[in-house]
Amino acid sequence: MRRPAVVCVLLVAWACGCPAPASCSVYSNYRPVIGVLAQENLESDYDAKGSSYIAASYVKYLESAGARVVPIRINETEEDYSKLFYSINGLLLPGGDVDLQKSQFSRVAKIFYELAIKANDASDYFPIWGTCQGFQQLTVLTSSKNLLTLTNTKAVALPLVFAPGAQNSRLFKSFPKDLLHALSSENITSNFHSWSISVQNFTRSAKLKRFYKILTTNTDGSKEFISTMEAYRYPFYAVQWHPEKSPFEWIDKSGMVHSVSAIRASFYTASFFVSEAIKSQHRFPTPSEEEKALIYNYNPVFKGMNSVFIQNYYFV
Ligand SMILES: *[C@@H]1O[C@H](CO)[C@@H](O)[C@H](O)[C@H]1NC(C)=O
Ligand SMILES: *[C@@H]1O[C@H](CO)[C@@H](O)[C@H](O)[C@H]1NC(C)=O
Ligand SMILES: *[C@@H]1O[C@H](CO)[C@@H](O)[C@H](O)[C@H]1NC(C)=O
Repeated sequence: MRRPAVVCVLLVAWACGCPAPASCSVYSNYRPVIGVLAQENLESDYDAKGSSYIAASYVKYLESAGARVVPIRINETEEDYSKLFYSINGLLLPGGDVDLQKSQFSRVAKIFYELAIKANDASDYFPIWGTCQGFQQLTVLTSSKNLLTLTNTKAVALPLVFAPGAQNSRLFKSFPKDLLHALSSENITSNFHSWSISVQNFTRSAKLKRFYKILTTNTDGSKEFISTMEAYRYPFYAVQWHPEKSPFEWIDKSGMVHSVSAIRASFYTASFFVSEAIKSQHRFPTPSEEEKALIYNYNPVFKGMNSVFIQNYYFV
């Protein structure tokens, strides 16, 4: 059984870019910390609560899969973000409703995206996850253009249409077979978006096509759009649908699904992303800096049962 051991050592050496296998150690970081980006609070009563927010469902989603969360506030300097980047193990770009080219959200997303490209190019693993607006933001960052188009997808639950081979993608390959079957046959992915990246525009954009692999698509009846994708060469993943809503949001409207398979699908996406974050070796310079940065320093505000987000974290 010598041969597999040798192969393994060589793979490890290659994976972390170390010159000599002897100096090389790859270990899983079982205390991952994931940054969730805040965004402008566009509610009229924002003065009372704060000028930016994070929906608590994204925090719970990551916590339920074994990560801790750090809020990334939108009014800080590039130096602050660079320091934070090298302290955290992944970034989640959440859903919402801000401008993808002019908002502070988009400014900060761009800073982290560029740092993540640079880090990954230097074998410093750093995953990014985009959900809904976060998905759309990634298309804008990668193509340097807004190629989105209006679709009739404001409140609908859809089954995913898997692209050939997508069930063996990094994202989906560890999902149980019965769950993949449920995802492709039941209406369990919640869509709450006015804009989408159509297969047509994606395919026409050399930058997008080269960067991302289409994993699933959907249609609003007339336009086919991309609902799940992963980057070929980077640990970047994006869903146009909302895995975090099924277990953690409770507004009673069409498109919301709380079935057992919807909640399992939610957990498997979160668990996958956390399994990517544990490959990152970033850490805070000191335990006290980590403690000060964590979301536990903030209290979510209950918004009521009819709110799109049942609880939000607000930042002044
Ligand atoms: C961001 O806002 C917070 C709270 O008002 C403030 O303490 C901090 O200095 C601000 N940061 C920058 C870079 O403006
Ligand atoms: C393609 O992108 C443009 C914006 O550059 C947009 O106006 C158009 O509606 C999109 N078309 C499709 C079919 O997605
Ligand atoms: C279920 O999905 C189909 C598309 O496969 C869609 O036409 C239909 O509107 C969806 N039904 C619900 C209740 O969301």
